Amino acid sequence: KLQAIDLSKLQVQKTTTPKERLDNKDLVFGRTFTDHMLSLEWTASNGWMDPRITPYQNLSLDPATCVFHYAFEAFEGMKAYKDKQGNVRLFRPDMNMARLNRSVARIALPTFEGDKVIELIKKFCQLEERFIPSERGYSLYLRPNMIGTQRTLGVGPPGSALLYVIASPVGPYYPTGFKAISLEATKYAVRAWPGGVGNSKLGANYAPCIVPQMQAASRGFQQNLWLFEDVDAETGKVEDFVTEVGTMNLFAAIVNKEGQKELMTAPLDGTILEGVVRDSILQLARERLVPEGWKVSERRFHMRELAEAAREGRMLEVFGSGTAAVVSPVRSIQYNNELVSCGLTEDVEAGQITKRFKDWIEGIQYGDEAHPWSVKI
Ligand code: COI
Repeated sequence: KLQAIDLSKLQVQKTTTPKERLDNKDLVFGRTFTDHMLSLEWTASNGWMDPRITPYQNLSLDPATCVFHYAFEAFEGMKAYKDKQGNVRLFRPDMNMARLNRSVARIALPTFEGDKVIELIKKFCQLEERFIPSERGYSLYLRPNMIGTQRTLGVGPPGSALLYVIASPVGPYYPTGFKAISLEATKYAVRAWPGGVGNSKLGANYAPCIVPQMQAASRGFQQNLWLFEDVDAETGKVEDFVTEVGTMNLFAAIVNKEGQKELMTAPLDGTILEGVVRDSILQLARERLVPEGWKVSERRFHMRELAEAAREGRMLEVFGSGTAAVVSPVRSIQYNNELVSCGLTEDVEAGQITKRFKDWIEGIQYGDEAHPWSVKI
C-alpha cells in the first residue's frame, strides 16, 4: 500500500549559518531566500516519504533526470503576511494546493493531500518568521514546486518526484512600484489554446513567453496582452479575444452598450490560469460592486469591443491580477496600429476600481479585515 504524507514524521534540521535579513527597501522579487526549505519525496512504489525541513541547499540530480528533458514541473505562488499583531497569515492556501494538484495531475506527477501540505507550510513559515516583512506591500513569497526526478530519457510517467517549498521575502513586484503599465497586444505568439495546458501552472507555459515579452519591451511596452483569434459565436466574425496579460489575469471595466458599468474577465475555458486573486476579485465584485449597480461578467471579450469602448468614452479601467503584484493598472494597449487608452489621465497611475480591489484584498491579506480567506497560523 502506498504511503500517505505523515505529518507526525516531519524531520526538522535547522541551519547553523543563519542568513542576514535585508532591509525591505533592498528586496528584489525572488532574489533572496530564507534559511530553510521544505521537501517531500515520492516514489511510485512507496508513495510519500517523511516530510523534511532542512537548510536551504542545492539539489543534486542526475543529468538524465526527466525534469531537465521533458519539463515535468509545476509550481505555485502564494504569500505569507504579517499582521499588525505580529501574527503570520496565509491567503486562501487551499486554492493553491487544489490548483497544484490539478497542474501536477496533468503532467503525470503524483497528487497529494493539500491540507497536510498546508500544515507543513505553516510549520515552515513559523520557522522562517523573522524573514516575513511586516510593512504593507511586503510579504514572504512561497514557491511550492514539484518536479519529476526519475533518471531516464524514456518518455513516460515519472517513477519518482520531489515536492519542495522555498521562500523569498518580497516587496512590490515591479521595481517601479504601483504604476500603470503599457501593453502590446500580441497575436503572432499564442500563450494558450483550446485543449492545451494554459490553465495549468506549468513552468513550460512561462519560458515561451519571454521572447515575445522582450520584443514588446524593445518597442517600449512592459507586457504582452495575449490574444486568441477565434470566431465569435454570436456574430460569426473572426475576432481577437483577450485572454491574459504577461503572467496575470486581466480585468476590464467599461460602460457597456446598455449603459451599465461592467467588470469583465475571460472565462475559465481551459486557456486561462485559474488565478486565486482573479477568483477573489470576482467574489468581492459580486458582493460589493453589484449592489452599486455593476454587472460582473466572466465572458469572452475581444479587442474590437475594448477599442470601441475607448473611442466612445466608455472605457473605465483595465488591470492585471496575480499573487505577485495583486493588481497592476494598465494605461494603454497597442493593438494593430491603434493605441487604445485605458481610461487613466496622464497624472493618475491607477483607477478607482483598481485601487478599491487593491485595498480590499490587501486588507484581507494583512488581517485588517477579518475574513475566512485569511488563515492565521
Ligand atoms: C503572479 O503571481 O502574478 C505570477 O504568476 C507571477 C509569478 C510567475 C512570478
